[in-house]
Amino acid sequence: MSKLANNSLKTKKLPFVRERQFCPGPTPVPLHSRLLMVDQVPYHRQEGFYSTFRHCREMLSPLFGSASAPLILTSSGTGAMEAALVNCTEVGDKVLCLVGGKFGERWLDLATAFGCEVHTLSFPWGQVPAVEELEEVLAKRPGFKAVFMQQCETSTGVCLPVGAYGQAINRHSDALVVVDAISSLGAEPMKMNQWGIDIVVSGSQKGLSTPPGLSFIACSERMQRRWSKRPRFYFDLPKEFKNQEKGQSSFTPASSLIVGLEASLAAITAYGVEDYVAFHQGLAQGVRRALEAMGLKLLGEGHFSNGLSAAFIPQEVDGNLLLKRLQERVGMIFAGGQDQLAGKIVRFAHLGMIDYFDICAGIIGLEQELFYLGCGNVLGAGISAFLQEG
Ligand SMILES: Cc1ncc(COP(=O)(O)O)c(C=O)c1O
Repeated sequence: MSKLANNSLKTKKLPFVRERQFCPGPTPVPLHSRLLMVDQVPYHRQEGFYSTFRHCREMLSPLFGSASAPLILTSSGTGAMEAALVNCTEVGDKVLCLVGGKFGERWLDLATAFGCEVHTLSFPWGQVPAVEELEEVLAKRPGFKAVFMQQCETSTGVCLPVGAYGQAINRHSDALVVVDAISSLGAEPMKMNQWGIDIVVSGSQKGLSTPPGLSFIACSERMQRRWSKRPRFYFDLPKEFKNQEKGQSSFTPASSLIVGLEASLAAITAYGVEDYVAFHQGLAQGVRRALEAMGLKLLGEGHFSNGLSAAFIPQEVDGNLLLKRLQERVGMIFAGGQDQLAGKIVRFAHLGMIDYFDICAGIIGLEQELFYLGCGNVLGAGISAFLQEG
């Protein structure tokens, strides 16, 4: 145990702690959005609400790089993934899923549940396949109806080059390109039209700093000519497009969340979408330098996402105890690893409208607890690296 173990501030429970969340969703929701959401729940079949709804859809377009306005659905992100799959494939269709983490597995599970003939391009957690590997699969096994992938694989923090993949898939096949940008929208560039991507799905509780409960789905023109003929009801996207053009959703939307979404999107629009992405890029670079300066090895081999950074916890430290102490002693909630990475990594999200100085606090909190748990030479190393980078 380090020499600080005898210092009461490091060992005793602190009297006052403000909770700070560094998990990859839900992300902090700005006060002005929260205040708007506690007002009267808006009635959704009236002109005032239709214009809010339309305004949200318009402001979403630049974030997706989509000429047409994305749909807003009332569901978590997985609902939009299911909607995408059901509306673009038939039972028995041959599909390809890129699987290198927990969320890649979700595409696979969905495609299996809905009766597709599922093929995978599997890659080790923390890595991403080269474009050539994908091209090789497409050449060897022609006839895919759709290819499913993540932009950010949240379980490992890697960012897949979906632009290059989309263009390669378009060059070599007629397959639809479907991207889960649930944890990357707003944090990474997304130019779905330019990159030949047909469907992009996302969710409210990540880069857009709105509570969980809304999902988004943007479709290319080509996709809108290729709807599946499967039975469906709640997630009937062609019907949804018709209704949403009039500012209405087919069913009762989470109207309070949409009011909060409008405020968050207005703030992002005023700041500028590109600058918002650059803000995340700057935070990510700084946090990576900080983690390295604390002696933590990054997971991701160069393909780092802008929304979260994952790093291995030093072997001499009990990873679960580190996260527990951070949460219980200083109110800082970090995500750990999932499945084979449980107890081995810490995931530090810097996603959405997170406060710059909260990130500083997160780095200092990590340093303090690592030091307490026996890592020497960490105090001040991370925060100094972060401030120099940013
Ligand atoms: C990349 C990715 N895909 C899918 C999901 C699932 O989203 P939800 O929990 O909103 O259904 C998440 C949630 O963390 C995610 O990060």
